[in-house]
Amino acid sequence: MPRPTTVHVCSSCGAEAPRWLGQCPGCGEWNTLVEETRAPAPAAGRGRSPAPAGRAVKPVPLSSVRAVQHVRLQTGIGELDRVLGGGLVPGSLVLIGGSPGIGKSTLTSMALGNLQGAGKRTLYVSGEESAAQIRLRAERLPGAALEVPVLAETDLETVVATLDAERPEVCVIDSVQTLHAADLTSAAGSVGQVREVADRITRLAKARDIAVLLVGHVTKEGSLAGPRVLEHLVDCVLQFEGERERTYRTLRALKNRFGSTNDVGVFEMRQGGLVEVQDASARFVGEATRAPGSAVLAAMEGSRPLLVEVQALVSPSELVPPRRVVNGIDRNRLALVLAVLGRHAGVSVGSADVFVNVAGGVRVDEPGADLAVALAVASAVRGLPLGGDSPKPVACFGEVGLTGELRSVGHADRRLAEARKFGLGPVIAPAGSEGGATEAPTLRAALRAALPQQPRARAA
Ligand code: TYD
Ligand code: MG
Repeated sequence: MPRPTTVHVCSSCGAEAPRWLGQCPGCGEWNTLVEETRAPAPAAGRGRSPAPAGRAVKPVPLSSVRAVQHVRLQTGIGELDRVLGGGLVPGSLVLIGGSPGIGKSTLTSMALGNLQGAGKRTLYVSGEESAAQIRLRAERLPGAALEVPVLAETDLETVVATLDAERPEVCVIDSVQTLHAADLTSAAGSVGQVREVADRITRLAKARDIAVLLVGHVTKEGSLAGPRVLEHLVDCVLQFEGERERTYRTLRALKNRFGSTNDVGVFEMRQGGLVEVQDASARFVGEATRAPGSAVLAAMEGSRPLLVEVQALVSPSELVPPRRVVNGIDRNRLALVLAVLGRHAGVSVGSADVFVNVAGGVRVDEPGADLAVALAVASAVRGLPLGGDSPKPVACFGEVGLTGELRSVGHADRRLAEARKFGLGPVIAPAGSEGGATEAPTLRAALRAALPQQPRARAA
């Protein structure tokens, strides 16, 4: 009589081990293995024959496969539809990850409300909030958010049975970590549970052509809980980012079977829910201070150019080592930029504290941000605004190399076009950027172009 087996599964990478280990053999993380009980597998054939039990089928050439044209469901939220690649594909599973309070429930409620309003059958399943709480949120939202049928339930069997009976065209599961499969012993939210929930929902979604928006929490470390396990199962992984206290949020696709992973949506959280920010560059440029320590970066958010303000503050410190605080850029890039500024461009921050912030709570994780960081810091150190008295704000982009050179980055033409569109100039960019840029081969040259000559110290 086969008995249930116990395995240990890594909650970070999903690797399995026959016994508990302190360190995961898959990803090397510590204390991530959790015990999981598995139902016995069906008894294997005892015969010696290596012949498989299945039936052989004839593979067909791709050219004779009929391609299905998906009619996508428009969520009515332009930025979301764009990131999805043109709307939701029926029968697809989309995982939306983000930290608590970022707006996942708001975004999915708004999408369902719009779809319901457009005559689609929808269902909002919540294991997190009561139906009354969901109603309170929906009251604040536009569209037909209040018409969306809701099921407040944590039992997976009930949810699957309800989905099967109701046959919605679109459904939200908020969140995958709160549903619980009764036949697994582990707690809701554990790797085994999350995998089981996603697996059962996927099978039903494919069989019944239900588009499912699966909400997933992000752990403190910034990864989706049980992340790799889920990423394999779903068609699309969207990450909702930003800081809860800030108004701007970005939505980007980390994986998309039905579209590109380059697009980014920008939203603003307001009283009436999330509002799309289509003119993000105009907002950020409009808010730029032009004070010493401020630089406008022509960044790329996926395939979309975005102008953001990078701010730096350099102030005397009593701490050893001094503080290096960043918001929206990589801390290591700041260390690199400061080193190159000191060594090759004659701008030393010495033992001062350095704070760098990308305004609006936006993250720019690209090497093209280096030059803006360097110029903002240099401008802060010298106490002079970039561009001096020039009527237009200076914009820039470019990667800073270790020998003080400026290296080219992708999409120079689009960055330049965006900067011109918003009346910025000059645009300081690496050599070869063309298109009317002020080309600077080195960081030193870029500094000369951006910062007016320091007033000469008068002889005493
Ligand atoms: P929520 O969507 O519940 O976040 P998540 O599901 O990702 O945890 O909402 C997050 C925050 O947004 C919450 O603190 C309240 C705020 N909010 C608004 O500011 N305006 C609104 O219209 C709504 C619905 C929420
Ligand atoms: Mg929520």
